[in-house]
Amino acid sequence: MTAYSQLAPYYDILGWADFTSRLWPHISKFLNLIDTKPSSFLDIACGTGILAHLLNERGLSVTGIDQSSRMIAVAKSKSFTLPTKFHVADMRDFDLRETFHITGCFYDALNHLSSDSDLQQAFDCASLHTNDGGYYLFDILTERGLREWEPYFYMERNRYIVSQRGKYDSRTKTRTIRIEAFVRDSRGETEFIEELLVERTFSMAFIQKALAHAGFSRIAFSSFENDDSIDNASRLFAICRK
Ligand SMILES: C[S@@+](CC[C@H](N)C(=O)[O-])C[C@H]1O[C@@H](n2cnc3c(N)ncnc32)[C@H](O)[C@@H]1O
Repeated sequence: MTAYSQLAPYYDILGWADFTSRLWPHISKFLNLIDTKPSSFLDIACGTGILAHLLNERGLSVTGIDQSSRMIAVAKSKSFTLPTKFHVADMRDFDLRETFHITGCFYDALNHLSSDSDLQQAFDCASLHTNDGGYYLFDILTERGLREWEPYFYMERNRYIVSQRGKYDSRTKTRTIRIEAFVRDSRGETEFIEELLVERTFSMAFIQKALAHAGFSRIAFSSFENDDSIDNASRLFAICRK
């Protein structure tokens, strides 16, 4: 079964929606900074489409792609204020035959790729869909971020119990993450959810080389969480111009 299949219906309530609140200040600051008024956004690995609401409020119509048909089904079930489309597609290999003012890929999505060549393909596809002069934004966990990632366990409003634990392998620079949750659904029945995800880090040198190869010439990285230097950051936020 594709990753996120079991999690999809509960993704927003189990805590994963919170990431967008941490991401939004970066995107909002970026939108305030640029001198053009973009109107189209491609959210690559869009999940349940949480970001689209905020982008709509800033006047951007959104297209989202994700490889999980269940995540896309949840996104499609939501209502939006501006034209919004969702498609099932793999970020390494898709062609919507359309380009966008801004493309983006968020919340560890790129860390789900398992090799340097997969990352190169994902950057190439992002570039294919970005207008000349347009922007590609993404976040990515660094090696430190994945190594020091904390397992957690919490419970809220008596409706669910969720735990995440994982093991980091310093040889392959991957972390295998097991998500387990008991959730009480809308009919009052308790469901058990189990997902196994593998996340990987990429060297900064390779990321920069691959972005340049994909046609992004001006690239700026910052630390996502705080004022850490880029070398110490757990997660990077990148702004790339084509
Ligand atoms: C942690 S979720 C992030 C979802 C969304 N961007 C957010 O911020 O909530 C990671 C997403 O990446 C998607 N994903 C992983 N590998 C993918 C691939 N090769 N192509 C497209 N989507 C992928 C998963 O299906 C999942 O929805």
